[in-house]
Amino acid sequence: MAFFNIALAPGDGIGPEVFEEALKVLHSIERLYSHEFSLKEVLVGGASIDETGVALTDEVLDTAIASNAVLFGAVGGPKWDNPSASVRPEQAILGLRKGLGLFANLRPVRVNPIMFEDSALKREVLEGTDLVVVRELTGGVYFGRPQKRWTNSRGRQAVDTVRYSEKEFERILRVGFELARSRRKKVTSVDKANILETSRLWREIATEISEDYPDVEVEHLLVDACAMHLIRRPADFDVIVTENLFGDILTDEASMLAGSMGMLPSASLGRRRKNGTGLGLYEPIHGTAPDIVGQGLANPLAMILSVALMLRYSLGLESEAEAVEVAVEKVIADGYRTADIAGGVQSKVVSTSQMGSLVDEKIELARKK
Ligand code: IPM
Ligand code: MG
Repeated sequence: MAFFNIALAPGDGIGPEVFEEALKVLHSIERLYSHEFSLKEVLVGGASIDETGVALTDEVLDTAIASNAVLFGAVGGPKWDNPSASVRPEQAILGLRKGLGLFANLRPVRVNPIMFEDSALKREVLEGTDLVVVRELTGGVYFGRPQKRWTNSRGRQAVDTVRYSEKEFERILRVGFELARSRRKKVTSVDKANILETSRLWREIATEISEDYPDVEVEHLLVDACAMHLIRRPADFDVIVTENLFGDILTDEASMLAGSMGMLPSASLGRRRKNGTGLGLYEPIHGTAPDIVGQGLANPLAMILSVALMLRYSLGLESEAEAVEVAVEKVIADGYRTADIAGGVQSKVVSTSQMGSLVDEKIELARKK
């Protein structure tokens, strides 16, 4: 038996809805595998702004720091969408990533053959797709200063800053190369080296680091070309490693390979212990989907698969992680779909909570066998 502290941050919009389904799964894993999870719910995003005036309080950050893992839903919504507001829900996720030193974001994309029909892409294109995007998470234009607006005689002006250090590039590139070693041994390094100085530094460092990994094949792609190849030949990719903004954009695109943003989990990791585990934050890549809140339409699978990543990367519970992933695959194989992925003719359309319960039942069944 193992004991873990887990901070729960459901957030806004469909965040709490998909969270509830993830908790069903988490409770079952705890019971069926005799672990003890001490769960502490915290307010983040818009929910926190309403209560405290800020998206992330120091207290919540401290709770997260003291945990083994943070499970995160989604933040944001029309209520807090005033673009000129100085307090914004997104500050919660950015503050947690930065405050916890979670510089590596892993976004795996595997396309289940049973879901080929549900994708907008052709079967021939999708066949064999199994890739991971490793996205840098605590630098670049997201955090670069100056970031400001001003007005002069020529009108309104604005500036954002892309800034990166050699050390930041090196550590994320190493995550990519190490991961490739445990997979199909191919790294695609993505930049915009024909335009950006930060990208030229990136490519230089990627080339240097690659010398430490002679067993890993390296491909350099410009981000625009990568966006094109992702839908032209997705099966050719193994590990894609890139900086913050490029990773943000490419992973929304890549999620469509899997049929929907509602299918993709993510893990945000910092420094690891020798055994490979360490504090991490786990969240679906989708947002708060204000248009479908409260209707039982949200797909909880990305959130549930985020629990699997948490079990694997922060708690070191590999068989438990696999149990969750296999359960999701079985439910999909049985034809169950939430509305967002119900493209195929034979799909049985279910609600958010039905989907959560179906996955949960599969976990129970597998464990009892
Ligand atoms: C993501 C999201 C976030 C990001 C937002 C909500 C700040 O789009 O996790 O991909 O841009 O990183
Ligand atoms: Mg994004």
